Amino acid sequence: MEDTAAKILSLIKRRGLVFPSSEIYGGFGGFFDFGPLGTELKNNIKKTWWRALVQKRDDIVGLDSSIIMSPRIWEASGHTTEFSDPLSECKACHKRFRADHLMEKLRDSGELKKLGFTDEEVKDTADINQMAKVLASAKCPDCGGELAAPRKFNLMFRTFVGPVEDSASVAYLRPETAQGIFASYKNILDTQRVKLPFGIAQIGKAFRNEITPGNFIFRSREFEQMELEYFIKPGEDDKAFEYWTKERMRWYVEDLGLKEENLRFRPHRPDELAHYAKACVDVEYKFPWGWAEIEGIANRRDFDLGRHEKFSGTDLKYFDETDKSSYIPFVIEPSCGVERLFFAVLCDSFEEIQGGRTQTTEAVKEAETILRFTKNLAPVKVAVLPLLKNKPELVAKAKEIHETLKKLFMCRYDETGSIGRRYRRLDEVGVPYAVTVDFDTLQNNDVTLRDRDTMQQERVKIAELVGLLKEKFGC
Ligand code: GLY
Repeated sequence: MEDTAAKILSLIKRRGLVFPSSEIYGGFGGFFDFGPLGTELKNNIKKTWWRALVQKRDDIVGLDSSIIMSPRIWEASGHTTEFSDPLSECKACHKRFRADHLMEKLRDSGELKKLGFTDEEVKDTADINQMAKVLASAKCPDCGGELAAPRKFNLMFRTFVGPVEDSASVAYLRPETAQGIFASYKNILDTQRVKLPFGIAQIGKAFRNEITPGNFIFRSREFEQMELEYFIKPGEDDKAFEYWTKERMRWYVEDLGLKEENLRFRPHRPDELAHYAKACVDVEYKFPWGWAEIEGIANRRDFDLGRHEKFSGTDLKYFDETDKSSYIPFVIEPSCGVERLFFAVLCDSFEEIQGGRTQTTEAVKEAETILRFTKNLAPVKVAVLPLLKNKPELVAKAKEIHETLKKLFMCRYDETGSIGRRYRRLDEVGVPYAVTVDFDTLQNNDVTLRDRDTMQQERVKIAELVGLLKEKFGC
């Protein structure tokens, strides 16, 4: 399974889906750039989410709030005091570690027992006092040096607004998009004629100064979130929570096309819950290296709006015309990370066929890679290929067809290499259809339309091509 992950990473690199940020300067830990195909795939994932949550529903509206907001927002939300990870530094080599991750490793490898601690003594590996006790006798995993007592490290990136860098100008890059929604809740309420239950959805960048970023794009310092805050009457939270867990699973399977057997729910233990949550369930995906979170669905109750009312002094209550009562709504939050989903989509679509599939023009013996993206996620929808590049009449016709198709679909023109090689290159990045212009085209005004998954080829009249492709893409 690790092998599959290595193959996917190699494909990502080879085809330029994702690059390390600032690579010409040796990279910059925890930051990434998305290349041309990666950008298309990411955009398609976001479009699928937006379409399901905003465009197709009458009860959810969209928002694009600012990344840097009043620092008071983070005091109210609890992020200034609570949003931290325990950090432990080696006194000898000065390498920094997530102390809770070190504790888990010590527990799982049986080292805790060797250090003289019983399971009973260290029930909660996330308890900072327990961490201090255990890490005082443990050693740095890198150099064997002594570890300093863990301290809380706030994950928010700090910056200064305006020309003076003092404590009065400190601001933060948002660590979650959710607070922008809570801060704009009253503006939406006052301008949009929304009535409970209703939601506000947002897609945008978030930033976390992770102590140990890693697992490629899985734990990065700059990432994108797709978050929905769904506001409900207090007391209706358990029902809404149940609804959203089901709806989100439906979206993953039916809209995004992930395989159901690769998805599961994992409820949070009470000691894992974020400071604002009454309950939380993770949607996990079965990555080649194991199950990991791609989305969290949290019951945030009235925690955030209640705190913002208190800190801002602005009345954030909702007047309920049905029973003439006023209250702060409760909120259910499905929140997912775009980059994690991007990786899940790649893993779910990846297939390698040893010895290759039979090609039309040449037998290729190497393993063949196919990304079986669903049609709505495929970064490139259609490729247009002249059979031979040294025949000007084929090239001219193919370019003419490409000009027409590119107005409607994300298209690619490719004339380099044998037709078999070109089909394989397209399969490798998951292009669902290839249109080939050959000598018959010049006689009959038709082309070959090749299907990535079945490899079937059908002759289609050029005049009918657009209609047929629209039908196949459901547009
Ligand atoms: N808004 C939830 C999170 O950022 O984890």
